[in-house]
Amino acid sequence: MVHWTATERQHINSLWGKVNAKTVGAEALGRLLSVYPWTQRYFASFGNLSSADSIAHNAQVASHGEKVLTSLGEAIKHMDDIKGYYSQLSKYHSDNLHVDPANFGRFGGVLIVVLARCFPDDFSPETQAAFEKLFGVIADALGKGYY
Ligand code: HEM
Repeated sequence: MVHWTATERQHINSLWGKVNAKTVGAEALGRLLSVYPWTQRYFASFGNLSSADSIAHNAQVASHGEKVLTSLGEAIKHMDDIKGYYSQLSKYHSDNLHVDPANFGRFGGVLIVVLARCFPDDFSPETQAAFEKLFGVIADALGKGYY
């Protein structure tokens, strides 16, 4: 089981309390699609993703980014059992969506950049380390349903 210190919990909850799931989610998913363009294949139904501009103006990217960030907010409420919380969603990404699980870590990486960009005053080394750990644990949990 993952151990969280009181300080880690505090850094994560206090920054996450400021996150707007829609804007931060749209930016993070948009960055994933731009920085790792092959991830666009999973979102073929979202229409034109051929340029940074078309990604930024794609309503489906924004709404899916919000969905993912809302899910992460729920996972933060279940920090002591993220693996259990994500067991179904892991199976869904594996069996139904066939998402390469390496992409979970990539998404965490771009999301860290977006959090640092949006909240520079909160982004201390301790906050960065706590989120790095959180997104690592989440990527691991989402990868558990793959075999
Ligand atoms: C769908 C969460 C990463 C691809 C979803 C859904 C959630 C979710 C909550 C909706 C499930 C439903 O409708 O029941 C997450 C979380 C991630 C993550 C928390 C954290 C790292 C990724 C990554 C990719 C991906 C990295 C691909 C590169 C998809 C696709 C769908 C989906 C293609 C279906 C979209 C649609 O057609 O509506 N995800 N996801 N996910 N996810 Fe993820």
